[in-house]
Amino acid sequence: MKEFKPVKEGKVREIYDNGDSLIMVATDRISAFDVILKNKVVKKGTVLTQMSRFWFDYTKDIVSNHMISVDVKDMPEFFRQPQFDGNSMMCRKLTMLPIECIVRGYITGSGWKSYQENETVCGIRLPAGLKECDKLPEPIYTPSTKAEIGDHDENINFEKSIEVLEKQFPGHGEEYATAIRDNTIALYKKCADYALTRGIIIADTKFEFGLDENGRVVIGDEMLTPDSSRFWPLEGYEHGHDQPSFDKQFVRNWLKANPDSDYNLPQEIIDKTIAKYLEAYELLTGSKLQ
Ligand SMILES: Nc1ncnc2c1ncn2[C@@H]1O[C@H](COP(=O)(O)OP(=O)(O)O)[C@@H](O)[C@H]1O
Ligand SMILES: [Mg+2]
Repeated sequence: MKEFKPVKEGKVREIYDNGDSLIMVATDRISAFDVILKNKVVKKGTVLTQMSRFWFDYTKDIVSNHMISVDVKDMPEFFRQPQFDGNSMMCRKLTMLPIECIVRGYITGSGWKSYQENETVCGIRLPAGLKECDKLPEPIYTPSTKAEIGDHDENINFEKSIEVLEKQFPGHGEEYATAIRDNTIALYKKCADYALTRGIIIADTKFEFGLDENGRVVIGDEMLTPDSSRFWPLEGYEHGHDQPSFDKQFVRNWLKANPDSDYNLPQEIIDKTIAKYLEAYELLTGSKLQ
């Protein structure tokens, strides 16, 4: 049996090179306040992978995606082991575009900070009088460039995204920049509207796109998971203050109350967190996790 080693190990995901395809594995690691906790959240990886799978299927009429299969039977033998079952996605290898496509439907986080200073977010002027976590009149596209490891991603405006893409893909900057912006807004609208009917507010999210072997723009990476998005419970939503995170609220609250814990959480908090991930999955997809 051929052994595989990850070509990339992120905080939460591992990526394996399989020739023409990649295998992206979501682990059960969980981070909070940018630190990886000592605990594993059993089944979190499966929830995340299956959630991406759901959204890729749900949006394939808008833009095609990199998903080939989430069935380990379609993958090399090495992946037919319990630790890969359900949490692995075989994907088409893309030439990734160096832009993080962020879309915000609500004003929160760094956007709220910036708005309080000058009523703009990433150079986009917003109406006066917004309260924290208010819904925006229209979702806004606020791209950033992927920073080198260690640096913070840099916010850019749409014009700058054309420039960045033009540099790497001469003659295609405007075409790609427009395609990823328009897809980002269309995807967010369709999915956030749907999530709302299921009791979840998707406040903002990040997509990544790449080019397939025919030079077509395709969506890659993960899609609309709690790791790439802000999910808020619709129940209890109220503007004027920060909202609880759908998935990580128990973890964050406990860490704040126990600053000396060294990121080792009681099982009770982990169990409650697993339950939230499963709840999000079931609400969004309308079915139980297999
Ligand atoms: N289909 C794909 N083909 C090639 N690279 C991809 C594809 N989908 C996602 N990627 C890339 O895989 C990497 C995933 O790594 P990740 O764990 O998210 O860490 P980071 O975002 O910090 O680079 C990202 O660089 C992403 O752009
Ligand atoms: Mg990433």
